[in-house]
Amino acid sequence: LEKMEATLHPEAKRIHGIPLIKYFAENWEQVEVFQAREDDILIATYPKAGTTWVSEIVDLIMNNCDPEKCKRDAIYNRVPFLEGAMPGVPSGTEILTAAPSPRVIKTHLPVQLLPKTFWDKDCKVIYVARNAKDIAVSYFYFYQMAVVHPHPGTWEEFLEKFMDGEVVFGSWYDHVKGWWEKQKNCRILYLFYEDMKEDPKREIQRILQFLEKDISEEALEKIVHLTSFQEMKSNPMANYSSVPKDIMDHTISPFMRKGIAGDWKNHFTLAQNEQFEEDYQKKMAECGLKFRNEL
Ligand code: A3P
Repeated sequence: LEKMEATLHPEAKRIHGIPLIKYFAENWEQVEVFQAREDDILIATYPKAGTTWVSEIVDLIMNNCDPEKCKRDAIYNRVPFLEGAMPGVPSGTEILTAAPSPRVIKTHLPVQLLPKTFWDKDCKVIYVARNAKDIAVSYFYFYQMAVVHPHPGTWEEFLEKFMDGEVVFGSWYDHVKGWWEKQKNCRILYLFYEDMKEDPKREIQRILQFLEKDISEEALEKIVHLTSFQEMKSNPMANYSSVPKDIMDHTISPFMRKGIAGDWKNHFTLAQNEQFEEDYQKKMAECGLKFRNEL
């Protein structure tokens, strides 16, 4: 029984001090030798910030807003996960090496771990950030359903680990700040999940401008509709339902869970919120990054 537990929620392994999913860490050499191409588009996020949402938007833009083309494959194959690796399936780097240009690539790496090749090639990067409290809640559910993560423990325990940066991909605080700083000298469009919830059309227009793409008003409206939470939740090519159950178990919690800003209020106790806020001020006071915890 103990052995089964171990393979279900394997311990994280550190790479340059950052905890990664065991299988990702074991595949790290492939990430280090990865070669970017000039026309790669990188989608960078801390987990649960809206990666899949932006991936679907960018894939639609790159495919002339044709929903049928965007149903050619599951989102994790259309926008491969750079450092992703699981036993028995091709790794992110393997899929990417075989993929035609232009590639859209997903990563959760903190900025200092991203292979230099992306900066050497001056690739465009879309970074999506989401407020810490909603991330913590979403990540807690994700840890449970995506059983390749370490044991989350109780909510109380998980929240503590989150605040300490002792979770897969490390500290949220360092992640959002690191990418924010990098924006000053690289081609990075820094987006916020809450802004996308507030006005998806406006944020999609910003993405279009950044990618130097011009589309009709009708096509723009179509992207807004096709990438709404309800549409993506019911789209088998966007909702991760095709992932084997020993990697993601949607009966524990669906990947497309709630899709709102402010769900943390249903999970944080008053005491947890106070403690979180106090710690947050210490970590974030001087960075100039402002998040909205609700709309
Ligand atoms: P919740 O768990 O809060 O519902 P990622 O893709 O980075 O793993 O992020 C997943 C989170 O984004 C989940 O948050 C998921 O429901 C939400 N999400 C996915 N698609 C969305 C969409 N089209 N609109 C709003 N939220 C979306």
